Amino acid sequence: MATLTAAAFSHDRDFARSLDARDELSAFRAAFVLPEGAAAFDGGEPIYFVGNSLGPMPVAARTLVNEELDDWSRLGVKGHLGSRRPWYSYHEQLRAPLARLVGAREHEVVAMGSLTENIHRMLTTFYRPAGKRTKLLIEKGAFPSDTYAVMSHVAARDLDPSLEVVEIAPRAGEWTLREDDIDAEIARLGDTLALALLPGVQYRTGQALDLARHTRAVHAVGARCGWDLAHAVGNLAVSLHDSNADFAVWCSYKYLNSGPGAVAGAFIHERNAGDLSLPRHAGWWGNDPATRFRMEPRFVPVPRADAWSLSNPPILAVAPLIASLAAFDGAGIAALRAKSVRMTALLEFLLRDLAPEVEIITPAASHARGAQLSLLVAHEAHARYEAFKAAGLACDYRESGRGVAGEGIVRLAPAPLFNTFDEVWRAAQVVRRTVRG
Ligand SMILES: Cc1ncc(COP(=O)(O)O)c(C=O)c1O
Repeated sequence: MATLTAAAFSHDRDFARSLDARDELSAFRAAFVLPEGAAAFDGGEPIYFVGNSLGPMPVAARTLVNEELDDWSRLGVKGHLGSRRPWYSYHEQLRAPLARLVGAREHEVVAMGSLTENIHRMLTTFYRPAGKRTKLLIEKGAFPSDTYAVMSHVAARDLDPSLEVVEIAPRAGEWTLREDDIDAEIARLGDTLALALLPGVQYRTGQALDLARHTRAVHAVGARCGWDLAHAVGNLAVSLHDSNADFAVWCSYKYLNSGPGAVAGAFIHERNAGDLSLPRHAGWWGNDPATRFRMEPRFVPVPRADAWSLSNPPILAVAPLIASLAAFDGAGIAALRAKSVRMTALLEFLLRDLAPEVEIITPAASHARGAQLSLLVAHEAHARYEAFKAAGLACDYRESGRGVAGEGIVRLAPAPLFNTFDEVWRAAQVVRRTVRG
């Protein structure tokens, strides 16, 4: 996707409003309940730019959850097979929309578990240290849960995490990884590399990595490649099947708007999903549903991503995902991504001009980022972040990771399903007023 040039934009509010007027996705905003917030600085509605952390509630989620509560109260155990969306096969209705969303085949995706649990499940299967091939590559500064999971797996195989876990970092003085450096590190590790676990979008900087490129590099040295898509799913238009990744995992409460702790998801490439010989954690929900209730002692995995499911799914935590995926299906991830690229580029254009003292550490090229812009605030960062929120701009704050007093990162993520270009314009005014006084 081409990087948008500044010449394509204007500082005028009317310009932002004209983009909204032409926005074919604008009706989807009404499908969400936007959270209450501080009254905005201009008396307008609060601006919710934190869908990268917890997406807002789809209106239909309440109906769907209530329907399940009704069915439970009316039917009790009979609801497993007799409710309007039978619980026995409940998660199966998510396959098709999830597959469309992440560019996968239906048998390659499954809604299950939580993100960190799913990282563990995938590490059990795909981290298979043997002989000299023992190294596990992650990024330095990965989301802590990923690092903890990786370290604990290496230790559980009686290997030394300080030797086997290789963390690739941006160059000194830089915030983001150079993609050439990632491939060079993969090549350097060569036949010692067992698995790479990389982020689709880095949570702190908003940098997007090229899934197909790095998967290719990892496969070229004979290792396996998996992706944490927590910040990429519902944000980028990924093509997981074609990327050839061995697996990918994500949560559903960020861009997928499915509620706190909502059921998460996983992709397992069909060459792996159909390989019944792979080691894995086994549970009865990964067993072939046709034979599950024979209650036999031997686990017979179903030849699809479902084989990694352990338990019968938490229906109340799956229901909101049905509502959210219906919105993604209606809008289409390609159209959403196209709008997102324009929104984020407009935000960047306005911030560079209105608040040049704030450094944007997210890459400038649209193919190297998603919706989020990460602003490095050099002084009194936390107080500034509080001031943003007090002025009606809901955003979030992360430590910079450099240990520099007063410094911090504020993340702003306009989401194309429910945010407007006018909100982008208003958010930029909040930042300007707060940092300039
Ligand atoms: C990149 C990334 N990985 C892992 C996690 C952990 O998610 P969970 O608590 O759902 O396991 C998060 C949570 O925000 C995340 O952003």
